[in-house]
Formats: sequence, structure tokens, C-alpha cells
Amino acid sequence: MNEINVKAWDKTAKDYFTEVVSPFAKGVENPIYWYIEKKVDYSKRKSVIDIGTGIGNLLPFLSKEFKEVVALDISPKMIEKAKKNAGNLENVKLLVKDARDLKEFYNQFDVAVSVNSILLPEIKSIEKILLEIYNVLNDDGVFIGIFPSMDALLYRAVLEHEKAIEDGDDEKTALEKTLKAIDADKFDFVLGTFKYHDMVQKHYYKFELMYRLWKAGFKNIRMRKVFYPWEVYEDEDLLEFKGKPELWDWFIFAEKKV
Ligand SMILES: C[S@@+](CC[C@H](N)C(=O)[O-])C[C@H]1O[C@@H](n2cnc3c(N)ncnc32)[C@H](O)[C@@H]1O
Repeated sequence: MNEINVKAWDKTAKDYFTEVVSPFAKGVENPIYWYIEKKVDYSKRKSVIDIGTGIGNLLPFLSKEFKEVVALDISPKMIEKAKKNAGNLENVKLLVKDARDLKEFYNQFDVAVSVNSILLPEIKSIEKILLEIYNVLNDDGVFIGIFPSMDALLYRAVLEHEKAIEDGDDEKTALEKTLKAIDADKFDFVLGTFKYHDMVQKHYYKFELMYRLWKAGFKNIRMRKVFYPWEVYEDEDLLEFKGKPELWDWFIFAEKKV
């Protein structure tokens, strides 16, 4: 990862919940808890690795559910904050580390978790991280992840366009308003990337995420949506859509099964 991205994440660490729409925000039903409690056998809750832990939002829960927790992040400031949030948990080990090289952890974990942290835009980095996650798991380990959704952005475009037409705009004006509302100039719809502050971040189409997980070797891939209530966003305009299906990230549960 280049220096500028680490610095940008360091900056985000300061005021995390204002900067990031998170599955850990108040009012969001985060499926990770249910899947770990109900779908990961108790005998397979010895070790877990949280990749891109950020400020450590998941660590108190993981510390309760697993014997050993390793949590890593590329950003020293994020790890500093995570230490404040979870440093007193005895079974949690925190490390500053790039997820693109996890050799030292191969075949060691029952579960790997990654919540909106596989964001590097280059295909090679994405493939490498997914492969590293596959490799750190035991033969019957599982990967539980949340990924930013590109499909949700297109759904929002549909809502914005429909609204403009209903408000009486002609097709051309409605399209212009839609592109502005979704910040279309910051997205690349082929690469699935979004310009955010000093970073370019990856977002995932459902079919691409399925494909990439399959390519990394995962089996029995299950996918569902993590919905964000309209109130979670800073953007007050979005409240106009209240009552319609909400925007979402992708949740995945996948097995290594060797
Ligand atoms: C949006 S935050 C999510 C943090 C946390 N998982 C959560 O949901 O609260 C993304 C995190 O991924 C980390 N990250 C991004 N690329 C990384 C990489 N290659 N290796 C390790 N961490 C990375 C960033 O530093 C940042 O803390």
C-alpha cells in the first residue's frame, strides 16, 4: 500500500464514526454476531484473526467468543486507538501489519474476519489479500466478511432518477441531477472504485465478489445484505427515501474446506 493511503487511514482514525458509514453504527443490524454465535461451532472458536480491525470495534465481542484473537491494521493510528478500546482484553494481540503478507499466520485460524477493509483498488492487491485470508485459515476454517457494495450505489441512482422524474424534471435534467447526487464523477463503474479523500477505494458488485472469493478457493459462499437505515447517513437528502428498501454492504460467509 502506498504511503498516502496509510496517512489517510491514520487521519480517519481520529473521528472514525463521523468519517465512515459503518456496520457498527447505532441502528445497523450487523450479521457478524449472529453468524459467529449460530454458524461457527463452539469447538471451532479457538482462534480468530480480524484483518483491518480499524479502531477495534469488533474486538470486545471476538474476545468473548474466541480463546485467541489477533487483530491487525496497516494504520498505526488505528492500532493505537484499538489499543485504547480493547488493549486491556487479555486474549487480544494487536499488530500494525499489511494484509497483503500474512505468511507468518498460515494455517493458524478457525475464523478470519474482515469488515470493509479490503479496499485497495488494484485487482492484484485484492486477489492477494483474499488468498492470504484463505491461507491463514485452518483446513475447515471460515471467512466472514463485509464489503462495500457497488450495486447499492446503482440502486441509489435509480431512486434519485425516479424522484427527479416524479418531481417533474425532463429526462436530461433528471439524469444530470442523478449523477450529481451520487457523486458519479468520483466513481469508476468498470473498476468499481470510488475516490474518497486522498484514497481510491474498491467497492464490489455482487457477481465480482462471488467470483473473486471463488477464485481464491473458497467454497459454499453465502451472501446477504447489511442494510443501513437512512438515518445513519450524514446526508439529510437521503431521508426522502425513508420507507423504501435501504442501501447496503455485502456480507459473506465462506468456507475453506480442504
Ligand atoms: C473502513 S475501515 C474498517 C475498520 C474496521 N474493520 C471496522 O469495520 O470498524 C478500513 C480499515 O482497513 C485498514 N486497511 C486498509 N487496507 C489494509 C491493508 N492492506 N492491510 C491492513 N489493513 C488495511 C485501514 O487502515 C482501516 O483501518
